[in-house]
Amino acid sequence: MPSVAINPILIRRAAPADAQVIADLVDLGEREGQLLPRSLSAIRASIGDWLVATDNERVVGVGSLVEMGPTLSEVRSLAVAPAYRQNGVGAKIVDALVDEARARGIPTVFALTRAVPFFEKQGFVVTVKADFPEKVWRDCIVCPVRDACDEVAVVRSVNSKT
Ligand SMILES: CC(C)(COP(=O)(O)OP(=O)(O)OC[C@H]1O[C@@H](n2cnc3c(N)ncnc32)[C@H](O)[C@@H]1OP(=O)(O)O)[C@@H](O)C(=O)NCCC(=O)NCCS
Repeated sequence: MPSVAINPILIRRAAPADAQVIADLVDLGEREGQLLPRSLSAIRASIGDWLVATDNERVVGVGSLVEMGPTLSEVRSLAVAPAYRQNGVGAKIVDALVDEARARGIPTVFALTRAVPFFEKQGFVVTVKADFPEKVWRDCIVCPVRDACDEVAVVRSVNSKT
């Protein structure tokens, strides 16, 4: 059961004024042990890559699309406010990020996650990180927990149906 009354959830591009609430939701996901940190300045610098889900204009979920190259983007830092979870908000954000990748002409999206069943429900399939050398060489190599990483790689074509 939702613990808040939920109005229609709308997805929109993030605006600079959303940076702090995005940072707060990502911080929470980090404290829950599910997300890697993103600094406020990094969020501000990448604000054009973020989408937010809103309930009556209040931001209740966030996610970003990070281009790894001309044919590959990462769904990163997906987070929904706890009171809004299990109501389809995360699925809506992923749908919109996949739409965004398609609009940018990017055929494939992936994520590194522990929420594998959630991504499988959005049409992703489990794969291996070695499929994404762009990611491994850009981010994993400098990650402090790279030798103990328990995130699973999941991938989806932007044209596949869920
Ligand atoms: C993971 C997260 C984004 C899901 O958001 P949500 O709005 O609760 O997800 P939805 O309601 O859209 O769920 C869609 C489906 O996935 C399932 N699901 C949701 N979260 C799940 C999880 N953590 N693990 C497994 N399945 C999950 C739901 O039960 C639902 O299944 P159904 O369609 O059979 O009912 C949210 O739990 C969250 O913010 N968690 C903390 C941060 C995090 O783990 N981010 C993902 C790492 S990239």
